Amino acid sequence: MNVALLRQTTENEPKPGLMLDDQQRQNLAGMTLRALAGSYTLMVKTQAAHWNVSGPLFKSIHDLTEDQYKDLFEAIDDLAERIRALGIKAPMNFATLAEATNIQPFDDNPVSTECMIETLAGDHESLADELAAGAKAASEVGDPATEDIFVERLRIHQKQAWMLRALLVK
Ligand SMILES: [Fe+2]
Repeated sequence: MNVALLRQTTENEPKPGLMLDDQQRQNLAGMTLRALAGSYTLMVKTQAAHWNVSGPLFKSIHDLTEDQYKDLFEAIDDLAERIRALGIKAPMNFATLAEATNIQPFDDNPVSTECMIETLAGDHESLADELAAGAKAASEVGDPATEDIFVERLRIHQKQAWMLRALLVK
């Protein structure tokens, strides 16, 4: 990943008290950044769905997406602080976030409610897949704190995907 922030462990900052070498910290911070960037993009998309949903399921979707974007907002903070605990700078701008995720924002073309929900569910599933790989990598280098946050987020993304897909059952 070509993200400059992963090189920004400054000499003035305390080294974290972790049994990890610099390469391991940077790798884990890179995966945490991907989770953060994906969560940020998905939060914006979830708010867009919250605002633009219409149809007979309006209330259910409007309320569910509010719960989901609030959860993502809290997760973003936890993930950024984990990057800092790994001794790496947290992202400073949207460009860094956009570069660090494959989750694509909605464009401004009208999209059906069903399509929005399907897209959000798929995004939760792809984030869950990334987090599963991240949890495995964190476990392999002996970083249970990063593994723990990845596993927690993985569980929540799978639950959110299930709840969104349950809305689509005819
Ligand atoms: Fe609202």
